[in-house]
Amino acid sequence: MMQVPIDDIMGLNATQLGPQRPPDVHWQALEVTARSRAALSGNQPCVLWFTGLSGAGKSTIANLVEKQLHAAGRPTYLLDGDDLRHGLNSDLGFSHADRSENIRRVAEVAKLMVDAGLIVLVSLISPFRAERRRARELLAPGQFIEIFVDTPLALAEERDPKGLYKRARRGELKNFTAIDSPYERPENPEIVVDTTQCHASASALQVLSVLRRVWV
Ligand code: ADX
Repeated sequence: MMQVPIDDIMGLNATQLGPQRPPDVHWQALEVTARSRAALSGNQPCVLWFTGLSGAGKSTIANLVEKQLHAAGRPTYLLDGDDLRHGLNSDLGFSHADRSENIRRVAEVAKLMVDAGLIVLVSLISPFRAERRRARELLAPGQFIEIFVDTPLALAEERDPKGLYKRARRGELKNFTAIDSPYERPENPEIVVDTTQCHASASALQVLSVLRRVWV
């Protein structure tokens, strides 16, 4: 199959591609495209990116949204930060560099899954604005829907479903988000879910109603 230089396909120059670009590696010009895959399934692939503190309710809400989409016959996949840290990201901890790499990998996987025709739900603290922006930039306009699960620290800490906040307060866990590691609130998320006002099922409905509007 013909090989096309990477820059010709992407319309980018080497500087824009960044230092990670492997030299002498070309894109394969494949003929079954993202568009044809999506057309085959009738799906509208996108990324629903849930960000917020540990214990905010991201995974609970994402799970409910996925259940509804699945029941409606939509092909989906949920990428959950905790689960991915058992496999793909098991070599990463919670330093700034490791979290950045965690977010980068998950964003790349989400992009591949969108290319495959799925609605991808990502549940990741993803505390850094710059990394979330990079994730957004990997997708086409409109394909990245950022959902801020806005739960105040006091409430997340009160819930503390895994007992991690208590351990962080005792100093047994270092670099814990919102304790001794920053969380940068999204500035312009597509959706803000206020978990102080709504139950998780109402938050899931809120997300689904926005999706319906976007898709119409
Ligand atoms: S992220 O910051 O890199 O996006 P990610 O979502 O993958 O984080 O993982 C967060 C999960 O790891 C939390 O829900 C929690 O269960 C666990 N965890 C363990 N240590 C920490 C820590 N220091 N900070 C935040 N979460 C932690």
